[in-house]
Amino acid sequence: MHRRLIVPGALAASLLLAIPATAADYTPGAPGIGDPYYPDYGNGGYDVSHYDLRLKYQPATDLLEGTATILATTTQNLSRFNLDLGLKASEVRVNGRKAAFTTSGVQELEITPAAGLPKGAPVTVVVKYAGKPSEVKLYGFTSWQRTPDGGVAANEPEAAAWWFPSNDHPRDKATYDVSVSVPDGTQAISNGVLQSTSSKLGWTRYNWRSAKPQATYLATLAVGKFDITTDTTASGLPVLNAYSKDLGANAGAARASVERTTEAAEWLESVFGPYPFDSLGGYVPNVPSRFALETQTRPFYSPRQFANGSNVSVVVHELAHQWYGDSVSVHGWKDIWLNEGFASYSQWLWSEKEGEGTAQELADYVYASHPADDPFWQVAPGDPGPENQFDGAVYDRGALALQALRNEIGDRAFFKILKGWPQKKAYGNATVAEFVRYAEKVSGKSLGALFDTWLYATERPALPGVRVAGVPDAPESWADIARSHER
Ligand code: TRP
Ligand code: ZN
Repeated sequence: MHRRLIVPGALAASLLLAIPATAADYTPGAPGIGDPYYPDYGNGGYDVSHYDLRLKYQPATDLLEGTATILATTTQNLSRFNLDLGLKASEVRVNGRKAAFTTSGVQELEITPAAGLPKGAPVTVVVKYAGKPSEVKLYGFTSWQRTPDGGVAANEPEAAAWWFPSNDHPRDKATYDVSVSVPDGTQAISNGVLQSTSSKLGWTRYNWRSAKPQATYLATLAVGKFDITTDTTASGLPVLNAYSKDLGANAGAARASVERTTEAAEWLESVFGPYPFDSLGGYVPNVPSRFALETQTRPFYSPRQFANGSNVSVVVHELAHQWYGDSVSVHGWKDIWLNEGFASYSQWLWSEKEGEGTAQELADYVYASHPADDPFWQVAPGDPGPENQFDGAVYDRGALALQALRNEIGDRAFFKILKGWPQKKAYGNATVAEFVRYAEKVSGKSLGALFDTWLYATERPALPGVRVAGVPDAPESWADIARSHER
């Protein structure tokens, strides 16, 4: 409540500071976090540190019911704030007290707490909610794939709103405890470490913990009947892979690929530095989609990825994202090259190591397969626009940009950068501009023109992968160099 004090002189200033903010000083948090590609993704006014999701899912009906407990800190004096949710909330509490709520926009759950929330204060939000995720259409689609035995939440840039309320943007990362109750005989797969399972009254509960900061789209849930394999890496991390029991003819190739997760991750450590998380694995649900996704610690693979036999390359791609995308996340979605360019380039390095073509050969091949009038060259990987966020150019031209960088600065500096960047930005967010500055610093070269050409120009660069005079080829193989940068 506001009391205006009339105090003369200098004393006034200091006393005024102590006066509680007026109701007018409390304003609503923004309905979007401020990403120009997706203005209503995420929200303003608070920062989430932890999600605790306690869920129950019925495969027969696709009914998901749950309670989300969200720990956050306000970043302004808040009169109200939004969460992003497609399912239907039935009760909301803020700091224990019932809060008013309504829905607006595409996925906005607008919450008005009983009293304003002062800036910098810890806030606990409890949301009870339910719904059938496959029936929730946001922006005209659902990110929840139904399967014959359950369902899966895995999508990019958005998947969370179909299964839990959140500040749905990679800029606000948090840790997760995901506890899911499913009928006995069915499994629930999520990120991180499976802490425990327990069964009673015909229901089995799976308790998952993802203990490092995680972007909302990298949180995943899969319910179904899975075969699960577990192991431990040489450095003691738990490995857990899950395969739908009805992968049909793709079952063998799926296992022959995903079971090489530990090997691929170990190799990636030689290129990118220490694996950033406390568990690893992958899962292959019986979904009809074609894509794979770098869901944190436990990538999602569509069975179609294995339709032609084993595909370790896609495993390498999704694992590379654990460094480039998951530990170091985009600041805004325009920074997508920091994810896809590097994950794609890691596939070229894997190919090089496997003797299936060097990165330079693959770069030459990609360059040659896109003639100058190919629209491929009109997509700028450094800022592709939301409509081209996942265009092939972001991946392939994005990887070409890295080969061009490698040729410009030489292997020694290049691999120092590949390993240094995930350390420098671990568990945070980054922009393409920050990467360019970092590469300039490490290499001691001015790289503006190179990145303009490969990331921003909307025409085919004239000289592919040209080796600049004065940068000798490194005598060692890239792998030796990568190893020499190990800490
Ligand atoms: N990031 C994913 C990968 O390259 C690919 C991807 C793009 C995707 N858009 C998606 C996956 C939508 C699922 C849904 O590994
Ligand atoms: Zn990718």
